[in-house]
Amino acid sequence: DDASCEGRIVAAKAALGERLAILGHHYQRDEVFKHADYSGDSLKLSREAAESDADFIVFCGVHFMAEVADILTRPEQSVILPDMAAGCSMADMANLANVERAWRELSEVLDPDETVTPVTYINSAADLKSFCGRHGGVVCTSTNARGILEWAFNQREKVLFFPDQHLGRNTGYGMGIPLEQMVVWDFDKPQGGLTAEQIKAAKIILWKGFCSVHQMFKPEHIDRFREREPNGKVISHPENSFEVCQKSDVVGSTEAILKTVRASEPGTTWLVGTELNLVNRLHHEMKPKGVNVQFMSPVVCMCSTMFRTDPQHLAWTLENLVAGEVVNQIRVPAEVAEPARLALERMLQIT
Ligand code: 13P
Ligand code: SF4
Repeated sequence: DDASCEGRIVAAKAALGERLAILGHHYQRDEVFKHADYSGDSLKLSREAAESDADFIVFCGVHFMAEVADILTRPEQSVILPDMAAGCSMADMANLANVERAWRELSEVLDPDETVTPVTYINSAADLKSFCGRHGGVVCTSTNARGILEWAFNQREKVLFFPDQHLGRNTGYGMGIPLEQMVVWDFDKPQGGLTAEQIKAAKIILWKGFCSVHQMFKPEHIDRFREREPNGKVISHPENSFEVCQKSDVVGSTEAILKTVRASEPGTTWLVGTELNLVNRLHHEMKPKGVNVQFMSPVVCMCSTMFRTDPQHLAWTLENLVAGEVVNQIRVPAEVAEPARLALERMLQIT
């Protein structure tokens, strides 16, 4: 049970000492999150991984995050994902075969290597980051998306943005790009379901991906909150739809959401549009400070893959390390890792 796992995790951590670093994303459940040595959003955690000297980096997050950590650490360091089934449905929406087909189809209309910078959200597989690295592109996170898109437009006139259409659209719109100049590439249709004219006129071509958790938040949830709480404030993650972000007072990454709500005056009520574990923790943290934090959706929506990492898997992973056995290691093959590292290092330099 969870209580016995707690003791096992604490004991294994003590035995491993400085050789171990546990990274925890803000969407992790409490019983896991409390054991993290470092917590943060995707950008902060990739920095922590890159700077870590630990032999073992146990990533309590999802698969693409552990891949990034492996790419940014030295070969003698091991990156471990406690449950191998902790993926990300959004990352799965952009597979390399579809992306390469899109690039070929684009080249029937324009020369993509001259005119299109491929930009992938960090929520993507390593081979897509590698694709971006090989084609002069870059990675972004929800924290740095605007600065990265500005850089991308300094390279080439258009951007092909993977996999989250909402982050791409919300960021592009915030930069002053009109909605008409952002088109969605539907990878289920020939030439993305777009005409040559639409492709030529577009500034941003958005991949048809989305987050299954954030799509549950709706504009009407905000309307109802505003009726209930006319002085309340709304804060949303940029993976939310355009309509939800437009109706929000603040849009930002998980780290930005925490920072903003923590800095608010007592008496403030917040409606928060992001994953439930983060919002619940923030609710309990802010309650004694007189700040009321509410979850945006009336139905429970958690990231089911983030939730896969449980105390049992964490305890099992750590005890194996104590016994000298590395289990569930994430290893990105060198031919994928090299160009992916280029795209990630570009991002870290620009940010
Ligand atoms: P950030 O923590 O970088 O805002 O990302 C949210 C997310 O969906 C991670 O998968
Ligand atoms: Fe992927 Fe959405 Fe879960 Fe983040 S919250 S890991 S984007 S499915």
